[in-house]
Amino acid sequence: MSKIALVTGSNRGIGLELCAQLKQRDFDVIAACRQSSPALDALGVEVIESVEVSDLKSIAGLVAKLSDRHVDLNADIK
Ligand SMILES: NC(=O)c1ccc[n+]([C@@H]2O[C@H](COP(=O)([O-])OP(=O)(O)OC[C@H]3O[C@@H](n4cnc5c(N)ncnc54)[C@H](OP(=O)(O)O)[C@@H]3O)[C@@H](O)[C@H]2O)c1
Repeated sequence: MSKIALVTGSNRGIGLELCAQLKQRDFDVIAACRQSSPALDALGVEVIESVEVSDLKSIAGLVAKLSDRHVDLNADIK
């Protein structure tokens, strides 16, 4: 079973590149961001939008969407 990687700030910059490289390394990538981008959509990974990392309610929403999935790698890029 693939390992799960959670990347915040995933729509551009280093976060986007991390998503691409982790996918290449066979991680199941969960890409969290405030708003997706065409480049992120093109990767074909799971995208969770409306994740504002400075807002606790937003983080709680992300946790709820992760449900009981165990995250093996968390890359917090912002
Ligand atoms: N690029 C470099 O060479 C370099 C070198 C050393 C360190 N760093 C550090 O690494 C981090 C990422 O760099 P980068 O070049 O990828 O920066 P970037 O292109 O500016 O991307 C920043 C990412 O963080 C997201 N973000 C910012 N504030 C957020 C918030 N409150 N909630 C959710 N997402 C938020 C942005 O989302 P939005 O699109 O929604 O704004 C974007 O996806 C920065 O802290 C930077 O200082 C970068």
